[in-house]
Amino acid sequence: MMENFVIIGANSFQNRLILKAKEMGLRTHVFAWECGDIGEKTADVFYPISITEKEKILEECRKIKPCGIASIASDLAVITVNYVAEALHLSGNAYKDSVICTNKYAMRGAFAAAGVPVPKFLKVSAPPCREALAGFRFPLIVKPTDRSGSRGITKVACFEEIADAVHASVAHSFEKCAVIEEFIEGDEYSCECISYGGKHSFLAFTKKYTTGAPHFIETGHVQPSDIPERYAEGIKRDVFKALDALNIRVGASHTEFKLDADGNMRIIEIGARMGGDCIGSDLVYLSTGIDFVRAVIDTACGRAPDLTPEHGAEKATIRFIFNERDISEFEQAKRDPLKHICYVSDMESENMGAVTDSSNRVGYYIYTEQL
Ligand SMILES: Nc1ncnc2c1ncn2[C@@H]1O[C@H](COP(=O)(O)OP(=O)(O)O)[C@@H](O)[C@H]1O
Ligand SMILES: [Mg+2]
Repeated sequence: MMENFVIIGANSFQNRLILKAKEMGLRTHVFAWECGDIGEKTADVFYPISITEKEKILEECRKIKPCGIASIASDLAVITVNYVAEALHLSGNAYKDSVICTNKYAMRGAFAAAGVPVPKFLKVSAPPCREALAGFRFPLIVKPTDRSGSRGITKVACFEEIADAVHASVAHSFEKCAVIEEFIEGDEYSCECISYGGKHSFLAFTKKYTTGAPHFIETGHVQPSDIPERYAEGIKRDVFKALDALNIRVGASHTEFKLDADGNMRIIEIGARMGGDCIGSDLVYLSTGIDFVRAVIDTACGRAPDLTPEHGAEKATIRFIFNERDISEFEQAKRDPLKHICYVSDMESENMGAVTDSSNRVGYYIYTEQL
């Protein structure tokens, strides 16, 4: 008899998971707010229940009796995944730990308690007084405790700039709080891993390109990264220690960090899920040949993942389009015989304009090149 598999979320990223689960012979049960997303049609059974309605989803899952439950690239969905997994004794991380992973302040606290180096940090709900920031070294970063996608984030150079930045972060925050933390210098990367039974396997380092200060909007990602070989093993050790600090024992993870010129790494944040922006769902497979999406389903079903590469290593890039200049670079890439364009998203040209957060994106494309 066909086994049942539950997926939380139905948008185009989650669709990769739905299609892979079907390819693996599983019957897919997909939960999401009904809004015309692709997964509503590709699912074997679709349930129009919002991904945050964890009690209602659990009730349905008791009837479905799935062999596993998963989601990719959404922190909110991960909370529901682990809530249901815990209640039904399925493979997953502890519910209380997944809540920590969605709050930047709680995460900093967990790192500090486990001896993972963190920048000085402070939680506020209103602009702090000068004394509250005694000992903090400027520049600082101010960000909402519980949002993503670079919303409401500002780098501030001096105390006078703090108030506006805090107001902006608090306005974006669901719990109306902001974290103020010291700015970490260096280039920005992420580390993609899969864990099973508390053992972590490294898959890839990703180099991240952003617009830089003041808002740090992501403009593209490349695998493999340009991290010098001599730093790689030390960074992996630090990442694994940070995953342990958050008690991430099973499934995908995406660890964002900065690396300075002397090889010192500092963690920005960890998601107990694949990296969004196609990092997990596409780039890892294209650059390493390892089927990361299949591995997520395997670990969610309580099986060790098969990490055998299906093809040789390549360089894989995703580029986001914000303006006319990006569009002409895209046209050039299409003509470049050394670049193989693998995927082009829909283009929403009405988004074109000022770049203030990742919702200003017009679209994106993915390409590979020989290493
Ligand atoms: N302490 C910090 N030091 C330097 N840059 C930071 C710091 N915190 C955040 N950033 C920058 O802001 C970006 C978004 O912050 P992050 O905490 O990852 O929030 P989000 O959930 O929006 O991705 C990071 O990718 C990084 O470029
Ligand atoms: Mg981030």
